[in-house]
Amino acid sequence: MCGIVGYIGKRNVVDVLIKGLETLEYRGYDSAGIAVNSDNEIKVYKKIGKLINLKNLLEEKKNEINNVTMGIGHIRWATHGGATDINAHPHTCTCGKLVVVHNGIIENFKELKEDLIKKGCVFRSQTDTETIAHLFAHEYGKTHDLTLAVKKGLEQIKGAYAICVMHKDEPDKIIASRKNAPLVIGVGEGENFIGSDIPAFIEYTKKAIYLEDGEIAVVKENSLEFFDANLNKIEKKIEQLPWEPVALSKLGFKHFMLKEIHEQPDVIRNVLNGKLFDIDEPIVLDEVKIDKESLKNLNRIEIIACGTSLHAAMVGKFLIEDFTGIAVDVEASSEYIYRKTVTNDKTLVIGVSQSGETADTITAIRQAKDKGAHVLIITNRPDSSMARYADSLIPVSAGIEISVAATKSYTAQVLSFYLLAIKLAEIKGTLSPEYMKNLKHELIQVPVKIEEILNNKEQIKKVAKKFANFRNFIFIARGINLPTALEGALKLKEISYINATGYSAGELKHGPIAMLDETMPVLSIMIPGGVTYDKILSNSEEAKARNARLIALTSSKDENLKDIFEDVITIPEIPEMLSPIVANVPCQLLAYYIAEFLGKDVDQPRNLAKSVTVE
Ligand code: M6R
Repeated sequence: MCGIVGYIGKRNVVDVLIKGLETLEYRGYDSAGIAVNSDNEIKVYKKIGKLINLKNLLEEKKNEINNVTMGIGHIRWATHGGATDINAHPHTCTCGKLVVVHNGIIENFKELKEDLIKKGCVFRSQTDTETIAHLFAHEYGKTHDLTLAVKKGLEQIKGAYAICVMHKDEPDKIIASRKNAPLVIGVGEGENFIGSDIPAFIEYTKKAIYLEDGEIAVVKENSLEFFDANLNKIEKKIEQLPWEPVALSKLGFKHFMLKEIHEQPDVIRNVLNGKLFDIDEPIVLDEVKIDKESLKNLNRIEIIACGTSLHAAMVGKFLIEDFTGIAVDVEASSEYIYRKTVTNDKTLVIGVSQSGETADTITAIRQAKDKGAHVLIITNRPDSSMARYADSLIPVSAGIEISVAATKSYTAQVLSFYLLAIKLAEIKGTLSPEYMKNLKHELIQVPVKIEEILNNKEQIKKVAKKFANFRNFIFIARGINLPTALEGALKLKEISYINATGYSAGELKHGPIAMLDETMPVLSIMIPGGVTYDKILSNSEEAKARNARLIALTSSKDENLKDIFEDVITIPEIPEMLSPIVANVPCQLLAYYIAEFLGKDVDQPRNLAKSVTVE
């Protein structure tokens, strides 16, 4: 989605802005722009399409960009008004002296716009953001104080925003503020930075200050001041960022997605580190504030998430119900927020989100909190908005994920659910010590098993090459691997645009079977040793009888499978209960190689955004 960067200091401002925007590109966008204070004028450069178009424009105009003291930049993912040069940010007021970049949505922009037009403002774009520029300029006309004008303007705005504002007549400062959209200040020496996410400035400083909703920052070269929404001065804490800039590099891999798939064994070791010490020791989840008493008071659990996180949530439901007997519902956040839910103070609500900034999930979590639920957040970003609402927290520690298609964060989320489900079972005493020891032992083995899959990629590449030109794809599974099938299909459609769908294998004959013929590959995820293997095998035979092209993903060594399946992707042996965390990896690789064979933009698929900050 949209990204913001701001800089004031002695470096080459245009370079800092462009580099910052490059680090945010992974979020998905359709236009880009910057505004600089150059020769004491506000100059705006913006272009539809990828950053290269903006860079070319800046190259053309380089002679007119001199003596630059500060600037703001933006990448836009269109919401109000199509992707065009004019709708790209930054936006200026009528006289061009005040300029703004904005992430989020202004809900009352139509009313504000009508009023501002009556007052003589001339609008050029179709965006909600331009309203902010005119509104602030109108307030500036009354006060000639940019900080006050922003405060007065923000009081009239309804919706979500992260903004940066500059004014020609106050060339020493950038004003920044946020509400329901992230914004972070990067603290430097003799320079300061603003970013909608940390990568925007991590190359220059590892000190940051997170703005809270409604707060206003006045960012100058040599000072930072913070105010609450009423302009009372406040003190803010400087946080030390744990990230190294190297986390943002591909480290020799062709795409971030491939790098992130390969990071999974280490991610698992990292997640387990400090949480699972030994098979005889209880699981340690420091920030989960649930004990025997509070668990007694619980009558159900609701897990809310979107997309890939929703699939991790489905694995979580399976595990928690199996290990503890507590009833669990899983729901897409976008559905949860528009109905009368039965959430109350006896409900544990678990929000799952890689980014911690997904608007639907944030709204759902807020609603759940208002109803008195205990909110547990599972996120890869403990610095996110969602984490701030958490009564309990599980940071999934997957490291920054750049590729839009979630891979390592999914694995870390699924693993977090294993740890949580075992923890709840420990508190409730619902599993035998032997069974728990075995689970923990198997979890510790998982990284090595994934390494084995990564060392044996050729089998997956071969299948990918063979099926890359099919227009449809079906993934089937049952039980705990149904989410693996859904996630496998989501990954494939996200990055290759193939119409891939995941079904419960048992549901195939209730409708989808009608689609089967020789143009339809069907990938069956079947793990022996549990209750589903034989059933999925029969369902696969039914598909074969309709001429579907069958692929098996299995740990079975049964040679007879070659008579039924055209291709067999083999994974290491693993108990069915633990298998989703391993079986997902070949699906990620299959999606990756198919997209790669098709020449798709793997890391930044069309129309998608890494973090969906609008409902
Ligand atoms: O940051 P979140 O986990 O809340 O994001 C939810 C979805 O938008 C996300 O999982 C999306 O489906 C990804 N593109 C999956 O690859």
